[in-house]
Amino acid sequence: MSRAEAEDAAGQDSRAGDRRICAASELVEGRSRRFDLAPVQGMFGPMPMEGVALRVQGQVRAYLNLCPHRGQPLDLGDGRLFARDGTLECQAHGAHFEPLTGACVRGPCEGRALTPLRVEERAGILWVTVEPREEPVDDP
Ligand code: FES
Repeated sequence: MSRAEAEDAAGQDSRAGDRRICAASELVEGRSRRFDLAPVQGMFGPMPMEGVALRVQGQVRAYLNLCPHRGQPLDLGDGRLFARDGTLECQAHGAHFEPLTGACVRGPCEGRALTPLRVEERAGILWVTVEPREEPVDDP
């Protein structure tokens, strides 16, 4: 087993800054799933961060799991976001988002959008590429 294959199997980063989401085959059409991102430094210490990945019309998208309305997670902890009409629904106050663009099309944050993340498929694995922060995260 190559180093990259071993890292993929262990769910570790294969390129600096990249994080494994799941096997591409696990993300089926019309489904979403959440995944962990590196924590960021908040006012009171490190804050866990999450993303959500989804597949729609054969395309994979990923967004920060934060609603632009009040900054709450979009899901109820299970990663499920799709409403019956095919939009993504924030479980907190019911904002609806267009899955391919992340644009809020209905609800309390209409006109705003989810924060997109860059996703790549390499050797059957979906990876999210997290850009390095330009400012230090441990500033007092
Ligand atoms: S936090 Fe998502 S609609 Fe309010």
